[in-house]
Amino acid sequence: MFVPSHLLLALVLFRALESTLADRNITIDDNDGAIKYSPGWSVSSGFNALDYQGSHHLTDNKSATANFTFTGVAVYIMAPLWPFAVGAQAGVDGSSPVAIDMQDHTHTDPTEQAPEDVNTTVLWGMEGLTNSSHTLQISFWSIEDWMTLDAIM
Ligand SMILES: *[C@@H]1O[C@H](CO)[C@@H](O)[C@H](O)[C@H]1NC(C)=O
Ligand SMILES: *[C@@H]1O[C@H](CO)[C@@H](O)[C@H](O)[C@H]1NC(C)=O
Ligand SMILES: *[C@@H]1O[C@H](CO)[C@@H](O)[C@H](O)[C@H]1NC(C)=O
Ligand SMILES: *[C@@H]1O[C@H](CO)[C@@H](O)[C@H](O)[C@H]1NC(C)=O
Ligand SMILES: *[C@@H]1O[C@H](CO)[C@@H](O)[C@H](O)[C@H]1NC(C)=O
Repeated sequence: MFVPSHLLLALVLFRALESTLADRNITIDDNDGAIKYSPGWSVSSGFNALDYQGSHHLTDNKSATANFTFTGVAVYIMAPLWPFAVGAQAGVDGSSPVAIDMQDHTHTDPTEQAPEDVNTTVLWGMEGLTNSSHTLQISFWSIEDWMTLDAIM
């Protein structure tokens, strides 16, 4: 088949554009209304530069959950680290929950109640999802004292 070269170039450029559009990370802050929180969560006070957008959600309610429905092929959780027992569990569409450790283990005093001291970063992710609607499900990791949510990507 003969394809005019300008058409071929246009096609190549279109494909390149399509793939950059298809693979794009969008960061959702913990304050985004699309995240559904159960009762018992609160928002950190003040502004902390180590949190995405300066704040995070937190709870010590072991029955607390948060869900986020999105369309895409991957999902990640971002959080800073704290010098005490903080973590969460995450799963997608009912998959068995995976623990996410959000503790800075370089601190050895477990009674320390200091603010987060390591900048927010991707701590967990699930890739290879079908390009359709999914629900990220966040729940309490029972061995921890606190659960937090800083950002979803
Ligand atoms: C997922 O589907 C949407 C809408 O159909 C499309 O715009 C997007 O490029 C697709 N993404 C991937 C990674 O295939
Ligand atoms: C999205 O973020 C993840 C985790 O940081 C990274 O592995 C991936 O390459 C990023 N994807 C794009 C398209 O930037
Ligand atoms: C999140 O989804 C789980 C599993 O479907 C459900 O048990 C829980 O009540 C939901 N939480 C919220 C805040 O919607
Ligand atoms: C703890 O979480 C459960 C489940 O979402 C909720 O029913 C309960 O009211 C919460 N307790 C408090 C004190 O917020
Ligand atoms: C934390 O990391 C983000 C990128 O993930 C960066 O934009 C920000 O400047 C960093 N903040 C600090 C205080 O290092």
